[in-house]
Amino acid sequence: MTETDGFDDLLAVIRSQRACRVFADAPVADELIGRALDAAVHAPSAENGQPWEFVVVRDAQRRADIGALMARAWEAHGRAHSEGRLAPALLADVDAGLTGGIAAAPVLVVVAADTRRGLRATVASSVFPAVQNLLLAATAVGLGSALTTIATTYAAELRELVGLPDEVEPVAVVPLGVPARRLGPPRRDPFGEHTHRERYGILW
Ligand SMILES: Cc1cc2nc3c(=O)[nH]c(=O)nc-3n(C[C@H](O)[C@H](O)[C@H](O)COP(=O)(O)O)c2cc1C
Repeated sequence: MTETDGFDDLLAVIRSQRACRVFADAPVADELIGRALDAAVHAPSAENGQPWEFVVVRDAQRRADIGALMARAWEAHGRAHSEGRLAPALLADVDAGLTGGIAAAPVLVVVAADTRRGLRATVASSVFPAVQNLLLAATAVGLGSALTTIATTYAAELRELVGLPDEVEPVAVVPLGVPARRLGPPRRDPFGEHTHRERYGILW
């Protein structure tokens, strides 16, 4: 075993992770969900507080209700905000996702932060590394996924839908399912365009 064994596999997963917003009508076994969540909880967190809580939603009505929050937020302000900012293809994809595509995923994971296990300043940022692990693990097991936060616009209603206590704040909703279509590689700027040596402005 060399130091770089496994890196190519890791990089392949990282480079193929994309936001999936349209899902096939195909079930996802609990075993796969469990594997992805096991990866999620191996993330770092401030003081190792592990403040994450995940609510795995399969119930069709509850998924539809969460989807309705997404659609309401999108239609109330999100679409107007994004029009002219997002590339047309991305806008169309987000629109399709937030008006039904995401809610049609067989599983919605509501990700929450337990404020009793973290400082206010770090509790939410302690949950997002776990979300990234979840996204990568989902990709590795062949599932589509996406990090979405728009439903937290209506945090009180989202909390109510999945029974979160007051101290547990919803921070994201991650759909999981078989992608309806193959997604191409993500478009990202090369790291060297945003990496500096010693001081900002001296590019790599
Ligand atoms: C903090 C955060 C919030 C996001 N919220 C949403 C969201 O509410 N709805 C959505 O469709 N995508 C959401 N996304 C996904 C981004 O649109 C996506 O990561 C970006 O467009 C890159 O897409 P790609 O990975 O498919 O290239 C969010 C991403 C992040 C990091």
